[in-house]
Amino acid sequence: MNKISIIGAGMTGATTAHWLAERELADIVLVDVVEGMPQGKALDMTEAMPIIGKDVNILGANDYAATKGSDIIIITAGLPRKPGMSRDDLLSANAEIVGTAATETLKHSPDAIYIILTNPLDTMAYLAMKKMGLPRNRVIGQAGILDSARMRAFVAMETGVSVENIDCYVLGGHGDEMVPLTRHSNVAGVPLKDYVSPSKLDAIVERTRKGGGEIVGLLKTGSAFYAPSAACAQMAEAILKNKNLIVPCAAHMEGEYGLTDMFFGVPVMLGRNGIEKIIEYSLDDGEKAMFDKSAEAVKETHEALKKLVQL
Ligand code: APR
Repeated sequence: MNKISIIGAGMTGATTAHWLAERELADIVLVDVVEGMPQGKALDMTEAMPIIGKDVNILGANDYAATKGSDIIIITAGLPRKPGMSRDDLLSANAEIVGTAATETLKHSPDAIYIILTNPLDTMAYLAMKKMGLPRNRVIGQAGILDSARMRAFVAMETGVSVENIDCYVLGGHGDEMVPLTRHSNVAGVPLKDYVSPSKLDAIVERTRKGGGEIVGLLKTGSAFYAPSAACAQMAEAILKNKNLIVPCAAHMEGEYGLTDMFFGVPVMLGRNGIEKIIEYSLDDGEKAMFDKSAEAVKETHEALKKLVQL
């Protein structure tokens, strides 16, 4: 059996474990700083396995030793932004948590592939890769699958067509400047622009960009976790089954799309080595302008991190 360890057993981490267990993809370890909580969630999930008929070992722990020999490490540990906390405060707090989780787990699983979820996502993935000194194929940020799934869901709501017929690609940074590529999106092969009116399409793009905030506004405490964790499980499955699945993820740019030394959401091929390949779309002038604006926003957060943390 493969092994997946999830650092941070909060809403996203525990729900990722749930999706993974349903796939019977790997044994699972949940690690959190809160004593008893990962053990309790792991035991509760273990007791669900006879009901859904899956043979998966699920273990909860407060120490990284339990993650030994993992094929994949998923990092969701982090703090939410609290009142009075500046963005930089949050950045340095989460950088400490993610940096430690990455370097400590690597000692126990030197061959693991890392999936990073903690926000600010692109910058936390950058930090983890730099701290661990790994090649870029082994550190992947989750965001593009989520943003694209949100857009697909909104198109399905608008058209009444099955989500399986809808392909959307949202690239760029995981923030308000993300880049929903309408030209590359389609409903059963029909370009989205020909299927949905321009005003409806604009509304879908806008709602996609603000998708995370819409959920925060409704939940009032906490942020989205079902769709982010489902995206994570899909990434893990593509890697462990060596599917060569092309999906948008945050990857370290080494010249692609004219970008270097930063993480950015682009289509990647996921297989047993993690990122097997980065796919480069040809962009028109309007798309290029959106890409550049989004890249600037991500670079700003990377620069803020570099002022706070020695990399
Ligand atoms: N080691 C392990 N776990 C930690 C650590 C640490 N050093 N520090 C905090 N945690 C745990 C918390 O105890 C908590 O259980 O991380 C968990 C985070 O869970 P939630 O607060 O429920 O947050 P969640 O909604 O899961 O989001 C986690 O993913 O999508 C992003 O923006 C989101 O950055 C956030 C992250």
